[in-house]
Amino acid sequence: MIKTIATTPYDDQKMGTAGLRRKSKVVMQPNYVENFMQSIFNTIGDLHGKTFVVGGDGRYYNDIAIQKIIKMAAANGVAKLIVGQNGFISTPAGSNVILKNHANGGFILSASHNPGGPNGDFGIKYSNESGGQIPSQISDKIYQNTKMITEYKICDIPDIDLSELGVQNICGMTVEVIDPVKDYVEMMQQIFDFSALKKLFAAGFTMRFDAMNAVTGPYAVRIFEEILGAPKGTVVHASPLPDFGGLHPDPNLVYAKELVDFMNSDKAADFGAANDGDGDRNMILGRHFFVTPSDSLAIITDNFQLIPAYKNGIYGVAKSAATSTAVSRVARAHDIGYYEVPTGWKYFVNLMDSKRITFCGEESFGTGSSHIREKDGIWAVLFWLSIIAATGKSVEQITREHWAKYGRSYYMRFDFEGLDTGVADKLMSDLENKLPSLNGKNINGFQISSAAPFIYNDPVDGSSTKNGLIISFADGSRIVYRLSGTGSSGATLRVYLERYSKTDLDNEPLKMLEEILKIAMDAAEIPERTGKHQADVIT
Ligand code: G1P
Ligand code: ZN
Repeated sequence: MIKTIATTPYDDQKMGTAGLRRKSKVVMQPNYVENFMQSIFNTIGDLHGKTFVVGGDGRYYNDIAIQKIIKMAAANGVAKLIVGQNGFISTPAGSNVILKNHANGGFILSASHNPGGPNGDFGIKYSNESGGQIPSQISDKIYQNTKMITEYKICDIPDIDLSELGVQNICGMTVEVIDPVKDYVEMMQQIFDFSALKKLFAAGFTMRFDAMNAVTGPYAVRIFEEILGAPKGTVVHASPLPDFGGLHPDPNLVYAKELVDFMNSDKAADFGAANDGDGDRNMILGRHFFVTPSDSLAIITDNFQLIPAYKNGIYGVAKSAATSTAVSRVARAHDIGYYEVPTGWKYFVNLMDSKRITFCGEESFGTGSSHIREKDGIWAVLFWLSIIAATGKSVEQITREHWAKYGRSYYMRFDFEGLDTGVADKLMSDLENKLPSLNGKNINGFQISSAAPFIYNDPVDGSSTKNGLIISFADGSRIVYRLSGTGSSGATLRVYLERYSKTDLDNEPLKMLEEILKIAMDAAEIPERTGKHQADVIT
């Protein structure tokens, strides 16, 4: 039943910030998934005795790609696959299943927060035995293999039924279909005090969780409604749909508009939250109040003592370079380690494995801890609920008190989308060449203290990564420029702005950042080079 099929390479199978992400139509080309998967298997080498986890966020093509992967894994000699029921598993739940079962790795079928459907995006993320996504040294090897591939192996059998829990044998390989929610819920119960959270809801606390028609619906219904006792209907858009019901499943002020409008209305709940397509991103809202992900990381870190799993102490904390420096002040106050890494969760994995950090986060609505090796949307929501339950304070009060204690980092991200890749690459390289001349300059009263590429030297494996350009100012303000690595076509320039104030705590972020935005636009010649005078998406 095992067949070897001849194929020819595709030249675009290079992984980005988080796995391979392409237009669904690109992934649906003949042998596209097969080439990519066989290249991974070829890179791993001997697959005998190995176990992998497979599942996805349920987006369009999930059902077809997963069948291909199962049949190919069997043909390549994999011993066992642990598969989420109906092919579903969230990114954080997948990481947990890898770690819990000491699996050799896993494949999550998702393009994360990108829209799905025939005209949307599809993707494959590959994790190793760490439970986190593979380092770029390995993805580079896989890419080399995709360019040389000549054949792939597949077990020629009818599609496998993934609707029933239990164990089956496919071409000599064991396939275990698991409930993708169960283990995840147990893990959350070990981290947080569920009885305190039950009391919170029993006392009438209200919440709206927007699952955005994506994978976290079943997780959120089980945890918030069924276990913690929040009323039915607390979780909205709770059924995962192949095209996310047309939603762009990215939990931010732009794409989670329905939730944002609700939380700004008279009917607002006490607490609002949303997760992305595959459940690793989160947005936290209070009544008429938004918490930036950078502040959320700082507040979570500052409150570690309130959570059973962390109350005896945490190692340190890390953030991506583009994320605001708010958490650095918390790290200093608690005298714990502090790290800045390139964008992409994979850069946190070594720091977690080596017990340098417990918490980490990115400005792109990602927060998490070393309970797994991916960011975790529901974990962040449970953390916030736990702070509320323990303090009796509102989201706004918690955040304002945090600013009063540490000062406030005004922070926003400006995305310039749909750029020609040549234009975007040249903008970045010309800016990089120009940085030395900006060093020490004073622009409209803003004194530049340093201007350089961000270079990360991993303290564990010694690898060095360059990611983005940073202009820092004497008053603590910063501009970070980088190109997105998750797009499926063209280029997106991200410009991240930050300005710190110890005393001015109640201002409009856009107003506070106005002058720095102008400096950022001018320094990189954004209007001249892209024709855009303002960003397409501001978060
Ligand atoms: C984006 C985010 C980054 C995140 C990644 C995967 O990558 O900026 O923080 O880790 O998605 O969720 P980018 O498109 O910027 O490369
Ligand atoms: Zn995601």
